[in-house]
Amino acid sequence: MTQLIAADAAGLELCAARLRQGEAVAMPTETVYGLAADATQGDAIAKIYALKNRPQFNPLICHVADLEAARHIGVFNETAEKLAAQFWPGPLTLVLPRTPDCPVHPLASAGLDTLAIRIPSHRVAQDLLRKLCRPLVAPSANPSGRLSPSQAAHVAAMLPDIPVLDGGTCAIGLESSIIGCLHAKPLWLRAGGLSRAAIEACLGDTLDEVPETQDAEAKLAPGRLARHYAPKAPLRLNAETGKAGELLIGFGQDAPPNCVANLSPNGDMTEAAALLFSTLHALDALAEAQGKSLAIMAIPEDGLGEAINDRLRRAAQS
Ligand code: TXA
Ligand code: MG
Repeated sequence: MTQLIAADAAGLELCAARLRQGEAVAMPTETVYGLAADATQGDAIAKIYALKNRPQFNPLICHVADLEAARHIGVFNETAEKLAAQFWPGPLTLVLPRTPDCPVHPLASAGLDTLAIRIPSHRVAQDLLRKLCRPLVAPSANPSGRLSPSQAAHVAAMLPDIPVLDGGTCAIGLESSIIGCLHAKPLWLRAGGLSRAAIEACLGDTLDEVPETQDAEAKLAPGRLARHYAPKAPLRLNAETGKAGELLIGFGQDAPPNCVANLSPNGDMTEAAALLFSTLHALDALAEAQGKSLAIMAIPEDGLGEAINDRLRRAAQS
């Protein structure tokens, strides 16, 4: 049963009621669609892990409507203050220590004493959060390991039993960038819809990288241990031309004429980011129908290219 719900007053009320009852609802954000549940109810959060088949070690992001609500659950240091002032609401998640009286259920943090927090800018997410007056956990609304959804129909295809508030196509199309604000130096935990350059310019400082040890990754960036963002079809990276049996995704002006899609004919990274997941969803279906595999041209690392290439590397892993 597919349940696309119009994001009008009645639809919002219906979804708010479900969330209060501890049920899951998919909601649009400016990055990707999230599978939302009340962050204060442990049972509701447990359902999200089960619905996504998500490893229990991988914590969730808490979404709140405004800075006041964020301060209620997380402790802001100077870096966090600066980033929140400049980039919230928007495609940025901050990992902060929990406040002593944080009402978010510990299951959201999967055993860590920190909390990932984000204020989404999408009007529908804002309306829902304001109606509920409580934080919502919302991982991307895809089964673990699959591509993130940037349209309501993507969610409906992957999670057919979940009501989806239809907020149109996500404007940014890539998950939020995640910064750890736990020590003096900010940590770059996930490349996403806000570029590293924009964050470094705001802080006047460079970002630290997570040490590549299993222990550091488990404590600081647990999400990296999971395989991610994969289409069903095999994906070949840095393709110069499409081989027989491949559907080629192009980028830029030099894309060969046999490309079946082009992420941005003008080489615009923002446009490419916005089209990445929807292109992969559409071509994955086509590849399956035609018994083909996927290939994509090289994408430059500038700006949002870092996040695009991160997703593509994970998508190509088998
Ligand atoms: O744009 C987004 O961030 C979307 C929309 C729906 O808001 N959400 C999203 O959630 O991408 P998800 O669950 O797919 O990714 C959350 C990431 C995971 O990599 C997880 O490991 C990390 O956030 N995370 C959550 N809590 C954390 C914490 N306390 N410390 C470090 N990483 C954390
Ligand atoms: Mg995800």
